[in-house]
Amino acid sequence: MLRTIVTGTGHYVPPRVVTNQDLEKRLDTSDEWIRQRSGIATRHHVEPGVNTSDLAVEAARRAIADAGIEPSTIDFIVAATLSPDHYFPGIGVLVQAKLGLGTIGALDVRNQCSGFIYALAAADQFIRTGTYRRILLVASEVQSSNLDYSDEGRDMAVLFGDGAGAVILEPSDRDDGRGVLSTHLFADGRFASHLWMEKPCPADNPTFQRDFFDQGKFYPRMDGRHVFVNASERMPEAVRIGLAANGLTVDDIDALIPHQANDRISQMVAKGLRIPVEKVVRNIERLGNTTAASIPIALDEAVKEGRIRRGHLVALTAFGSGYTWASALLRW
Ligand SMILES: CC(C)(COP(=O)(O)OP(=O)(O)OC[C@H]1O[C@@H](n2cnc3c(N)ncnc32)[C@H](O)[C@@H]1OP(=O)(O)O)[C@@H](O)C(=O)NCCC(=O)NCCS
Repeated sequence: MLRTIVTGTGHYVPPRVVTNQDLEKRLDTSDEWIRQRSGIATRHHVEPGVNTSDLAVEAARRAIADAGIEPSTIDFIVAATLSPDHYFPGIGVLVQAKLGLGTIGALDVRNQCSGFIYALAAADQFIRTGTYRRILLVASEVQSSNLDYSDEGRDMAVLFGDGAGAVILEPSDRDDGRGVLSTHLFADGRFASHLWMEKPCPADNPTFQRDFFDQGKFYPRMDGRHVFVNASERMPEAVRIGLAANGLTVDDIDALIPHQANDRISQMVAKGLRIPVEKVVRNIERLGNTTAASIPIALDEAVKEGRIRRGHLVALTAFGSGYTWASALLRW
């Protein structure tokens, strides 16, 4: 039976570090408030002129080098982001052109914070059916250029960071149990407006209206408490469903990588699963919430640090706008 294995990982964050003290100068907030509510101390922001696909390309190059492959042998791209360079096209084609990958197909996934796991699920199907043999899966975000630094948007403005993570996926038919064991995807569109960017909206004619700018409708908005409660419940639930499908238990998990939404949420996920917090990969203190990129960045760091080693059971879980949520189990 063919299974999808990860043969390379990489990530890239832009060099500019933005501290909570930097944000204190720009908006009405405090280091104490941010640390206490989110666990975040710093995040990275791009300089003007740097696009989401630029970060994606850097992360992809690192994953390609890590896998030790020739870029020309990649036969498909899956790209996840909520902050594409343009309204259309998506970033998959831009990554393809910048890496000089010829005319291979490029699929864009729009599932926000759950984007990496949704994209992994799609790529896994292509590999297990034999459709593609070497997929570049990349998730990338530039959020910093469209955050509302007024009182209305400060709950979100302090959370987000920019960055990208990538993996190379290939088939394996070895009988060693390695690979993607399962992915479980969920959504509840009734709550779309609880975490969203309302405009631009093509039902408005013209789509871009000055009033919408004045009303702040081009900024992301969330109902923080609703998001908090649902994220804290849905992520452990998704992991348990994945474990049950594989006849595994929480004790079997060697490393849990939750989407780095907010450290308080990650702690709630650990508590909900009754998993020791030492097994939970957490880098939000340094990097903030990088949306779809947060899981592949944390995965790459954990692999390079030796926290994730061959044979380990790795659980991924995410929750975000949609609402969407998901889990994936991988035998490394
Ligand atoms: C945002 C969140 C911290 C708010 O928590 P809460 O318990 O609802 O509210 P709190 O009592 O802690 O704080 C709310 C107050 O802080 C204020 N506030 C919001 N953002 C702030 C900031 N950056 N700095 C200082 N104060 C802020 C609010 O205006 C509000 O003030 P008020 O009481 O005068 O109206 C919490 O809902 C949360 O963590 N949600 C999850 C968000 C998340 O992780 N999203 C990621 C998306 S995947």
